[in-house]
Amino acid sequence: MQINPKHSTWLDIDLGAIQHNTARLRDRCRAEVMAVVKAGGYGHGAAPAARAAQRGGAAWIGTARLEEGLELRRQGVEGAVLILGFTPAERVAEALEARLSLTVWSLDQLEAAGAAASATGLTAAVHVKVDSGMNRIGLLPNGAVEFVRRATETAGVTCQGVYTHFACADAADRRPTEKQQAAFSGVVEALQAAGLRPEWVHAANSAGALAYPEARWDMVRSGVGIYGMHPSDDVRLPDEFESALQWKSRLTQVKVVARGQGVSYGHRYVTRGEERLGTVAVGYADGFRRVDGNIVIVGGRRVPVVGRVCMDQCLVQLDSVPAAQVGDEVVLLGRQGEEQITAEAIGERWGTINYEVTCGITERVVRLYR
Ligand SMILES: Cc1ncc(COP(=O)(O)O)c(C=O)c1O
Repeated sequence: MQINPKHSTWLDIDLGAIQHNTARLRDRCRAEVMAVVKAGGYGHGAAPAARAAQRGGAAWIGTARLEEGLELRRQGVEGAVLILGFTPAERVAEALEARLSLTVWSLDQLEAAGAAASATGLTAAVHVKVDSGMNRIGLLPNGAVEFVRRATETAGVTCQGVYTHFACADAADRRPTEKQQAAFSGVVEALQAAGLRPEWVHAANSAGALAYPEARWDMVRSGVGIYGMHPSDDVRLPDEFESALQWKSRLTQVKVVARGQGVSYGHRYVTRGEERLGTVAVGYADGFRRVDGNIVIVGGRRVPVVGRVCMDQCLVQLDSVPAAQVGDEVVLLGRQGEEQITAEAIGERWGTINYEVTCGITERVVRLYR
């Protein structure tokens, strides 16, 4: 059994899988890929994930925020980067200096981009966000052509792209996405007719890229897919995709506890007989949620977490693995022997989605890269 003696809990991240998944998605879609590495690359580490995706052929990197884009540059990530969210006007110049492209959807933002361009002597590269039905950010389709025209006429601003985002591409009901796709197609056609179509037209997230070939345009924006996680139960990754992340810890103590003893805070679990219990060096401050019903793998078997999950530790019931001893690897997410626990399964247990499981793994969990 492989253990890592240096850390209490760690992520074992396979950058080759991210590279592979990016290349597979690019081939399958016959479109360029924007690797979405916001939120620390969905827990995988933004800069290493970005570089791995670039090795797999990603043409663009996407972040949610300016700070994330700046951090990528500090870490030496080169190439095209788009900030997918809001950038405060006061900080647009920083974005230009770091060669980060901006998402814009209002005249105020366009003005701020022009002002920062003239103040710095740099060009503000923007992608115009069209709200085709998500109702989150973006301008409505009927104002898009005029807005793109304004963008192209604003001194110091270059309009690199126009894009939208789907609300329901991962759902079985195709109608909302078809409606959004039709609205966005109308915008692209009108831009084309006006001679204003920018170089990059993009719409699909991972689910959209897989389930709606007509929405692939010039590029697909993929987060969950490049990490090898399924967009949803209804839209699953093809078999050729590989999961990139495993979350591990180790047993720090193994003991036999007498019958009728309360375990962990609040004594919510009381031993039913003489029980072998193990202490695991992971807790809710690592992102391992304080809920009942957690399961981990020890000695190739699934074992239950018992009692309350503490901030840095939790306890497991080891009666089914009598050979388990201090130092043994504990798999929270990933594979050991014949057993596997997926981010999707944990999401189901926690009443959430796989995205939130990996994004919620906190910074103090050491990331080890393969
Ligand atoms: C605008 C935008 N594009 C693309 C993505 C990537 O989505 P997914 O991880 O489902 O591929 C996201 C993430 O939520 C997003 O906000």
